Amino acid sequence: MVCAAILAGGMGLRMGGEIPKQFIMLAGKPVILRSIEAFANSGKIDKIYAAVSKEYEKYAAEIINQSVTGVEIVVGGKNRNETLYNVLKKISAEREITEEDVILTHDAVRPFITDEIIESNINAARRFGACSTVIPATDTIFESRDGEFIDTIPPRSEMFQGQTPQSFRIADLTEFYDNMSGDEFEIYTDACTVFIKNGKKPAMVMGSRDNIKLTYPEDLEKAEGIIARQNAKGERINP
Ligand code: CTP
Repeated sequence: MVCAAILAGGMGLRMGGEIPKQFIMLAGKPVILRSIEAFANSGKIDKIYAAVSKEYEKYAAEIINQSVTGVEIVVGGKNRNETLYNVLKKISAEREITEEDVILTHDAVRPFITDEIIESNINAARRFGACSTVIPATDTIFESRDGEFIDTIPPRSEMFQGQTPQSFRIADLTEFYDNMSGDEFEIYTDACTVFIKNGKKPAMVMGSRDNIKLTYPEDLEKAEGIIARQNAKGERINP
């Protein structure tokens, strides 16, 4: 069983605007729908869960059901880990989990996910138990513990920027979350950290520079640009 969790329980405060960024229309289609359709159209996902805040549950269902069938809506939590844990609890309540079962967890606000990235996540999650999509870092990364002075400058060739999906064996991730405290849910902002803290090494799979996360208003312009380029080249997978 391969599940996808589309995480859309955030409020998009940095983006601003009247509705959370996952519901904004991007070239005529809500961002969340672009992400969900990419997974649905890949033909590789058995079940899709979309996690949204309670306030937007009905609104999200209306948007999603007009285009994709069989998506289960789950109520999100107060941080990203809690949102994902709610999806895992839903899955465990629905069926017996086996070692074969994996979940691809994806930011709803990364609408340019491709079939290749989905496929390599499934393969790596099955083979290694956990993986994150990444791209090589383009800027040099400075580490500063106090935010004022530089402690270290790691070699750029060893630095990667995290993207999503991040994909996991469902049984392992559920077990790790079951044993985490409320504080840890807040602190380990990245689900891969949960694996690392439990002594596991998540694998890396290559993402793409187009697989951007919509965070600030100017990211919407970048996204329009990507769609225009893909349309011009006739390569857009999710029209
Ligand atoms: N997310 C979630 N549940 C939360 C918080 C975030 O599912 N409680 C999701 C967001 O909806 C988004 C993804 O995690 O798809 C990445 O998070 P981010 O870009 O930080 O989104 P927001 O928390 O919405 O943004 P901001 O921090 O600007 O409010």
